[in-house]
Amino acid sequence: MNYNLLKGKRGIIFGALDENSIAWKTAERVHEEGGSFVLTNAPIALRMGELNALAEKTGAAIIAADATSTDDLQRLITESMQHLGGKLDFVLHSIGMSVNVRKGRHYTDENYDFTAKGWDVSALSFHKVLQQLYKLDAMNEWGSVLALTYMAAQRTFPDYNDMADNKAYLESIARSFGYFFGKEKKVRVNTISQSPTVTTAGKGVKGFDAFLNYAEKMSPLGNASADDCADYAVTLFSDFTRKVTMQNLFHDGGFSSTGVSQDIVDLFSDDS
Ligand SMILES: NC(=O)c1ccc[n+]([C@@H]2O[C@H](COP(=O)([O-])OP(=O)(O)OC[C@H]3O[C@@H](n4cnc5c(N)ncnc54)[C@H](O)[C@@H]3O)[C@@H](O)[C@H]2O)c1
Repeated sequence: MNYNLLKGKRGIIFGALDENSIAWKTAERVHEEGGSFVLTNAPIALRMGELNALAEKTGAAIIAADATSTDDLQRLITESMQHLGGKLDFVLHSIGMSVNVRKGRHYTDENYDFTAKGWDVSALSFHKVLQQLYKLDAMNEWGSVLALTYMAAQRTFPDYNDMADNKAYLESIARSFGYFFGKEKKVRVNTISQSPTVTTAGKGVKGFDAFLNYAEKMSPLGNASADDCADYAVTLFSDFTRKVTMQNLFHDGGFSSTGVSQDIVDLFSDDS
């Protein structure tokens, strides 16, 4: 169902890699709700060419930017405003990558060059995006900036590795920058803490399938899918959530508030 919640709104969507990406699903929903946007990703990700199909479907332009480069971000934001015909109302940061995870380095045996790179891509890039938006005065009042995170920022999940630390940092940036962006420019900054979701980044985590099934059984409403996440992002970009800022918002079917579910108890009871 479409409600035209984002009619006339303009934005930038980072991180659509393929049709499973949370950013891909969000772009489709934003388009259905009347929003227009620029799609962006790292130059290396664009080489695969998959994004062209999404751009065509949603009438979006594609502008390459490495989210760790302030020069790239400055150019992206300036060109996006020119292309879209004005300041922005929404920005989605849907970016994550751990070199330690990719190279199979255990958390107790981190390579710190890998750690620094993963932190730059997954956490500091959010500050860089916000700082460029702020300096370029690129956001309209009551605009909304969102990043994606995971509950490993609050509780330990052994195989989430250094991404847990990156997510804790990312969530802190939403609060710290959210203060100044709110005070000076009436712009919201939040993070969505999403259920485990089958995407390229998600599948990179060791034991992901078991983990996904466990979360499904623990969550009273079941896991939130990428499509569910897209719906939630639309509400947070809309005018119906104008006073929500500096929050880490759990979007996980109730997982984060559940001690144990009956399904899990049944699995471990003696007569099961
Ligand atoms: N999949 C899950 O289980 C899950 C759960 C909670 C949160 N998240 C978060 O959701 C976000 C999106 O991930 P996803 O699951 O859709 O996976 P995905 O792999 O589809 O998206 C990750 C994106 O980050 C981009 N990226 C990497 N380095 C970049 C750089 N230097 N500059 C610009 N872009 C860069 C990739 O090209 C890719 O498009 C991430 O922040 C992830 O941590 C995912």
